[in-house]
Amino acid sequence: MAGKAALIAGATGLIGKELLQFLLNGNEYDKVVAIVRRPVEINHPKLDERIVDFDQLDQYNEVFSVDDVFCALGTTIKKAKTKEAMWKIDVDYPVAIARLASSQGAKKFLLVSSMNADPESPIFYPKMKGKLEEEIKQIPFETTAIFRPSLLLGERDEFRLGESAAAAIFTKVPFLFKGPLKKFKAIEGRTVASAMYQAAQKDAPGLTVYPSEKIHEMGR
Ligand SMILES: NC(=O)c1ccc[n+]([C@@H]2O[C@H](COP(=O)([O-])OP(=O)(O)OC[C@H]3O[C@@H](n4cnc5c(N)ncnc54)[C@H](OP(=O)(O)O)[C@@H]3O)[C@@H](O)[C@H]2O)c1
Repeated sequence: MAGKAALIAGATGLIGKELLQFLLNGNEYDKVVAIVRRPVEINHPKLDERIVDFDQLDQYNEVFSVDDVFCALGTTIKKAKTKEAMWKIDVDYPVAIARLASSQGAKKFLLVSSMNADPESPIFYPKMKGKLEEEIKQIPFETTAIFRPSLLLGERDEFRLGESAAAAIFTKVPFLFKGPLKKFKAIEGRTVASAMYQAAQKDAPGLTVYPSEKIHEMGR
């Protein structure tokens, strides 16, 4: 056992659920703190589940005293209802987590962003993810790893019409997503989780951005 501690935000989500399994079942961490707003419904001796108020994260300073932080938080405009509410979840919470963890001495920060992240985009979602990345890059860690997956595949509790329609295209005509279109190939949440787990075990100081093709390769 390496004696390290990890913190995960988003452990009840598509990527987060898979990532939590890697963190708990791998040999790298002997403690895994999951900050959640509802229980993950898993019992595991390594799991330290903390139900927190994400609007008051600075009230839980001590939970951020870990080695490596994994952030797979996010929502949809349908759930959040307004752009402001979505921005709070997709940008403000991850940035608050990163700041608290950095100030508590965490060494690595691994973030799920999106393939189209672009702070200059005129479109809300890519702009929001681009701004998130910009803010995270300013926060000091020995290692910052940003993952930019394309459309995510996997079982969800909820139905997402647009994503399901797009996923059907990706799975029915996978041969389309070769050559220059390869980067658009949809990706399993589990593959992203696996790549994040692997990346955290590498000695890669500074910033590394993992595009979707690279995440596919790592998950193979
Ligand atoms: N969907 C795609 O195709 C796609 C593609 C590229 C990148 N991404 C990005 O990848 C990331 C992870 O995606 P995913 O599909 O794994 O996410 P997901 O299944 O929607 O899970 C999101 C996580 O964030 C938590 N969360 C949401 N609202 C919250 C709130 N108000 N307070 C506290 N926690 C909250 C959820 O907790 P609860 O379970 O309590 O709601 C859940 O743990 C997101 O940032 C997403 O934007 C998605």
